[in-house]
Amino acid sequence: MRAVVVERLGPPDVLRVRQVPAPEPGPGELLIEVAAAGVNFPDLLVIEGSYQNIPALPFTPGKEVAGVVAALGTGTAGFAVGQRVLAQLEHGGYAERVVVPAVHAAPIPDGMSDHEAAAFGLPYLTAYFALLRRAAVRAGETVLVTGVGGAVGNAAVQLAVALGARVIAVGRTERRCVRARELGAHEAIPADPHRLRDRVRELTGGRGADVVIESVGGPVFDAVLRATAWEGRIVTLGFAGGTIPSVKAGYLLVKNIALVGLQASDYRDREPATQRRALDELLALYQEGAFTLPTTAYGFDDAPRALRALRDGGLDSRLVLVR
Ligand SMILES: NC(=O)c1ccc[n+]([C@@H]2O[C@H](COP(=O)([O-])OP(=O)(O)OC[C@H]3O[C@@H](n4cnc5c(N)ncnc54)[C@H](OP(=O)(O)O)[C@@H]3O)[C@@H](O)[C@H]2O)c1
Repeated sequence: MRAVVVERLGPPDVLRVRQVPAPEPGPGELLIEVAAAGVNFPDLLVIEGSYQNIPALPFTPGKEVAGVVAALGTGTAGFAVGQRVLAQLEHGGYAERVVVPAVHAAPIPDGMSDHEAAAFGLPYLTAYFALLRRAAVRAGETVLVTGVGGAVGNAAVQLAVALGARVIAVGRTERRCVRARELGAHEAIPADPHRLRDRVRELTGGRGADVVIESVGGPVFDAVLRATAWEGRIVTLGFAGGTIPSVKAGYLLVKNIALVGLQASDYRDREPATQRRALDELLALYQEGAFTLPTTAYGFDDAPRALRALRDGGLDSRLVLVR
């Protein structure tokens, strides 16, 4: 089968399309004929070798796919050959076929395209575990979301709105702010570290944000720390701006703030049944019309171009790879 392969770590240009052996499903596993593979920011980190978990070379990147079940291992009750599924994996998605534990897959609901299904799991599961598991958000609370326009930021805005929160989106550009309002954000403000705290205070009657979903890092993180309410919860889940912040712990102490981390894929590996329940809840919300996720498809041969576009930012749609 054909797959996009990393033979040496580096920028997107290191990606090559190669013939590789097709995988076979073992007990508890599904073989999926991949229709589309989601392209995510963490893939860039894996390909360049700066991610926390780098596979042995050569490897195929790609953390999520959508497709059709082509074969079943034993003990995969609930799935059938020919069924449309989406699945989360650590790597290997940029290929014509993948094998995944059945517990990491879920049926694709009616009305969801293969491209949407391939781009859905990682950002919406990340938003889900950030908002519900790590921050325990409650309806009526104010949620500040940074990195809107991006995959996780947009998912967090839409999910927080669906959960009944009041959402303040933080966008790098005015275009990002306009889009965030279209996605349901109640307010959208620029990611200006010098003005952010005052703007959030103005919008919250001086209180600050109850929950912060933070994926940018650097000076944006420092600013949102100062914009957080008494007993607020900050979930740090990424550093898309390129700088890992250091925390002035005094801010946490004086305002009883909880700063918590998130690595969403841990739930796939440590609590697969929890992840499956989360996916089912998210897919039900999708069917109710809670989420919009436009996509753009690139062929395998164009994988370097897709990843360069993701690295350069400013995208209006989620990217998927098709064979
Ligand atoms: N912890 C987890 O489990 C987990 C899961 C998924 C992703 N992540 C991480 O979360 C981060 C975001 O992922 P993603 O998939 O949403 O990436 P993405 O789609 O590329 O979005 C990144 C967003 O950050 C914005 N941004 C970048 N630099 C900025 C800056 N200096 N100031 C303000 N905004 C800035 C971008 O703005 P533009 O739209 O203008 O380009 C974009 O909206 C990445 O670091 C990723 O590795 C973590």
